[in-house]
Amino acid sequence: MGEKPLVSIVLPTYNEAENITKIIGELERVLGGAGFSYEIIVVDDSSPDHTWVKALRQASPRVRVVVRKIARNSNVNLGGGLASAIRIGLMQARGDLVVVMDADFQHPPEVVPKLIEKAMETGADVVVASRYAKGGGVEGWSKLRLLMSRGASLIAWIALPQTRATSDPMSGFFLVKKASVRSTLRNMRPKGFKFLMELLVRSRTLKVAEVPYVFKKRAAGESKLGYKTIVDFLLHTALLSPMTRFAVVGMSGTIVNLSVMKLVLDATGIPDIASLAGIESSILSNFALNEAWTFRKCRQGSPLGRLARYHLSSAGGSITTYLTMKILHVLAGVNPLLGQFIGIILGFLVNYLASSTIVWRCGVEKDES
Ligand code: GDD
Ligand code: MN
Repeated sequence: MGEKPLVSIVLPTYNEAENITKIIGELERVLGGAGFSYEIIVVDDSSPDHTWVKALRQASPRVRVVVRKIARNSNVNLGGGLASAIRIGLMQARGDLVVVMDADFQHPPEVVPKLIEKAMETGADVVVASRYAKGGGVEGWSKLRLLMSRGASLIAWIALPQTRATSDPMSGFFLVKKASVRSTLRNMRPKGFKFLMELLVRSRTLKVAEVPYVFKKRAAGESKLGYKTIVDFLLHTALLSPMTRFAVVGMSGTIVNLSVMKLVLDATGIPDIASLAGIESSILSNFALNEAWTFRKCRQGSPLGRLARYHLSSAGGSITTYLTMKILHVLAGVNPLLGQFIGIILGFLVNYLASSTIVWRCGVEKDES
């Protein structure tokens, strides 16, 4: 890329009257100084403190303000509108590269050129400004806040394989290549706070790069992220997660397993053969359903290779179930049925984790060569 691309900056705002003028000025200084052509798009949800009025004072061909109408007394705002505001900003953006950031100086404007340079260097579809990459960090957080943030990232890592491409899937500071996300944007209706997470999950595989940064204290005003966002996050993650689909498929496999076993038992009268036939049939039907549904977006390489690896993954799950029962029963005197039940849960986790990493590889870029 010889010429510098047009860059759009999206600033979602809700009650940022004390920050908006300064952040726009600072972004103009940093981007103008680095010689980028840029535009800034403020998406405000009719903030009661009139952030949008202040933003409109700076309006120019380079600074656009989108004011969304929010019904009075509705509690969809107060932060709930963040992800959808980001979507609107991205759809309006004319730039080849679009940066999304907080308007409160928690995401330092000096990092923006680094995101742009990284995108140009690597050709990545998404560049995440990461608190958890080497060299990144957070300023002035309590242990509890840090623990919650890391916990949420871990939950996302387990439940949403596409987020494994970044160390900070909860980041609100990132760059996207507009052309790579255009079609996803049109179809998604994101809820809550975690726009980036949802984008990664809803897209076909995106190439992700990272730039470390230190998350600063808020310059002025208050955070809109409340306890309700935690509950929203958990529900939302469960809905988006292939783990939920993997569990449904697993239950259907039990029915296949028992039905085939019954048929073969009636025909041969040999329990060993009947059991093995049941097991193999359920592995095959689970595989087909996971291919077509659970992990349909994560198919890479040859189907036969995946089938072979899925056998290993399933065997890993069964062995885990057995060993858990054995260990709990022998070492702790736990009732074998209870031990088996706990083992089934752990075996499910092992099978799911192996399936989502070695069988179907979500969020890991295909090697096109
Ligand atoms: N238009 C609009 N509508 N903007 C909103 C809304 C909304 O409903 N809610 C918040 N914003 C704006 C804020 O004004 C701010 O510019 C930005 O979105 C982020 O909101 P904050 O209230 O500053 O969130 P935070 O700092 O607690 O959380 C940030 O860090 C998290 C990671 O810890 C955000 O960047 C999150 O996205 C991020 O996950
Ligand atoms: Mn913030």
